[in-house]
Amino acid sequence: MGEIRIVLFGAGALGKFLTGHIKGNIKIVAYLVTEITGDVNGIPVISLEQLQHIEYDYIVVAFGNTIKGIEILEKANVPKRKIVGYAYSGLTYEENFLQKECSRLIHEKLCNEKIPELFEVPVKEYYLCGMNVLENQDVIKRDFVREQTLSFLAEEIHRKNIQGSVAEIGVSKGEFARKINFLFPDRNLYLFDTYEGLSEKDKAKAIELGWGEKQYALDETGVTFEEVLQNMPYREKCIVKKGYFPDTFDLEDMFSFVSLDIDFYDTTKRGLEMIYPCLSKGGYIMVHDFNNLSYVECKNAVTDFCEENNVAYVPIPDVGGTAVITK
Ligand SMILES: C[S@@+](CC[C@H](N)C(=O)[O-])C[C@H]1O[C@@H](n2cnc3c(N)ncnc32)[C@H](O)[C@@H]1O
Repeated sequence: MGEIRIVLFGAGALGKFLTGHIKGNIKIVAYLVTEITGDVNGIPVISLEQLQHIEYDYIVVAFGNTIKGIEILEKANVPKRKIVGYAYSGLTYEENFLQKECSRLIHEKLCNEKIPELFEVPVKEYYLCGMNVLENQDVIKRDFVREQTLSFLAEEIHRKNIQGSVAEIGVSKGEFARKINFLFPDRNLYLFDTYEGLSEKDKAKAIELGWGEKQYALDETGVTFEEVLQNMPYREKCIVKKGYFPDTFDLEDMFSFVSLDIDFYDTTKRGLEMIYPCLSKGGYIMVHDFNNLSYVECKNAVTDFCEENNVAYVPIPDVGGTAVITK
């Protein structure tokens, strides 16, 4: 195949990454940037005005916000067939999460299938979503930050070979548990929930706290564990712990990862007191709703537990807020 000339839109980390993975027959003729800074390794850095004066076959959007890059190029009348959207996140995630949305948009908006023709990058390493979460909210209908945090923590656990089972306390429909199961296919996943909605005691407490119908689904009757299990990719690794937590915490096991998502002070605090001693060194606990403006219960439980036990935590800016505790 003859030489293919491309322009890389972006000369930052991603532009450099792609430059390092360029295929033999591809020539980068320019880096396009919105603010001119000179050249990169002798290749000119050009502006949108200059773009029309050079010859090229494709222009690859090589910065985090692919959609925005495409919009800029379309406004500048770059022919659509020449635009290639490279979207990098570096994660390997389950098909029906990023990939489904991505392939839809890729087909609608981009000619991303060109990427393997131009670069030697592992197929799984290009996705539509970068880390610029806000701009990509329309692409990712789900809680990207929460799921991405989980994914990175799982990566750390695997990389450091931290031993132990995984668990979710407060499973509901199993949406987050499903991700945990996917990321830890070889580990036992304990699934704690009443599977019957809130206990009467907690309902009364929620009303007392003023968590009205709008903020809190008091009338939810819960999802059965049979339904939850149906959506688990590695069902055989799931162990259902049905009933009121922490009464159901009768395990003699170690944990590498636990998601704690049961909203109330007492159960969250007692949960931490029971789980933390069973957390492997290097393991993680994600406590959801740490910065939920509607419920301060989880925040108080985490801060009290951490102060009393000299444990540190990191708040994560996902929807509702999460505190990540490690050991
Ligand atoms: C916020 S939802 C969990 C959502 C889930 N973690 C997700 O992100 O997909 C909380 C769940 O915990 C359950 N729950 C709350 N307190 C509980 C307790 N003490 N014991 C067992 N389940 C409880 C509720 O019934 C509900 O199903």
